[in-house]
Amino acid sequence: MKQTRRQFLRASAAFSAVVIGPHRLLAQNVGFVPMTAQPASMQLAPNGYAKTDIWGYDGVMPGPTIRVQQGERVQRQFINALPQASSVHWHGIRIANAMDGVAGLTQAAVAPGETFDYDFAVPDAGTYWFHAHNRSTEQVARGLYGALIVEETAAPDVDRDEVLIVDDWLLNSETAQLDADFEAAHDRSHAGRNGNFIATNGDFEFSKDVKKGDRLRLRLINAANARIFVLSLVGLEGWAMAYDGMPLAQPEKIDGQFPLAPGQRVDLFVDVTADVGDSAYLVRALNGENMAQATFPVTAAGTRTTHAVPEALPPNPNMDIGDLTNARMLTLNMEGGAMGRLDAAILDGERLTFRQLAGANQFWSFNGVIGMTDTPLATLARGETVRLTIRNDTSFPHAMHLHGMHFREVLADDQLGPMRDTLLSFAGQSNEIAFVADNPGKWLLHCHMLSHAASGMMTWLDVA
Ligand code: C2O
Ligand code: CU
Repeated sequence: MKQTRRQFLRASAAFSAVVIGPHRLLAQNVGFVPMTAQPASMQLAPNGYAKTDIWGYDGVMPGPTIRVQQGERVQRQFINALPQASSVHWHGIRIANAMDGVAGLTQAAVAPGETFDYDFAVPDAGTYWFHAHNRSTEQVARGLYGALIVEETAAPDVDRDEVLIVDDWLLNSETAQLDADFEAAHDRSHAGRNGNFIATNGDFEFSKDVKKGDRLRLRLINAANARIFVLSLVGLEGWAMAYDGMPLAQPEKIDGQFPLAPGQRVDLFVDVTADVGDSAYLVRALNGENMAQATFPVTAAGTRTTHAVPEALPPNPNMDIGDLTNARMLTLNMEGGAMGRLDAAILDGERLTFRQLAGANQFWSFNGVIGMTDTPLATLARGETVRLTIRNDTSFPHAMHLHGMHFREVLADDQLGPMRDTLLSFAGQSNEIAFVADNPGKWLLHCHMLSHAASGMMTWLDVA
């Protein structure tokens, strides 16, 4: 179960060189940790291939993990040493709106050579992440992301805690450089920008030695532009403990495959059951093949004796959804894309046919409108419960992400699903989510398949 050069499919589009701007040194603000987005290179492809030019926070991909205690403040001076304007979004943090990092909505994009101070409290424990939120299709694909881990006040009973960021890259099979056609119409109108090279934490042979019987906390984060990872466990017995940062009331036994859509996270507790000398695996299924997404060689026997079902993680504050029966009802119809039924939609106030939209490299509509508008999808009263029906009338899955507030899926008989910030919606499906509009400000609602967001699937909610 190893990824080899075979997997390196020939990339179709031509490689064009990245122009690297001069690095600038800027003064650090007192108390703020500098965080510099800058061009760099790293050995991403196997040895023998060239290093890949990337953009990374502090020059690495993934960026350095930020670890804080629940309730603490994060203070970062973002320094833009890129040749493009950028901003940082703290995905999943129920954050003050001005710190949400959405260029063009909550702040101006930070120009090259400029800085921005991010300063916010983290109310919830769990697994979060940060990534660029200007020209995201390009900037996230180039490597601008990292993990933001918020630790519970009382450390849970695990032997190890590992962050595993899964991603794919679209690399030229000869030069090992990123395909620089970030706006390819085919990606936009189909499943998004899928890579031909897959790795964990930027390492295609990701491996960590473990001991038999140890209980590991695996924090999985999907940072891919579009790929839905289909994962399973081998030589590990595990439970899902939290989705998108938010603890489950009861651990869920992992049985078979589970999907992880772009933007989503899952915290697993896993017990190593593979024998000493063997390996345990996090496995991804792709085109009928099982590949190692992460390998855990079992080098020794551990000392843990209890392997009971783990206790649930302590709940985060404000996990209630409120009164569903008197909730505000909203609908979001997703249409468009290849093999879709979208005949026409509004772009910049003008009604255009699908053919005209395609000419503008725009393909997807929410309620008949393409992309961001000056007016929000809805203006919500602070504290009201909202039920939002999301209808996927397209031929593709979408990963719908709401900024600023977590939601629960409303299931049959008004049963509520786990609290999440990103919903995986399959073609033809209709899902209903409910949330409390308790965080004032302008909050983006968009598909986390970043090519889709860039070609229409983006709107916002205004919480008064
Ligand atoms: Cu993870 Cu709008 O982003
Ligand atoms: Cu989408």
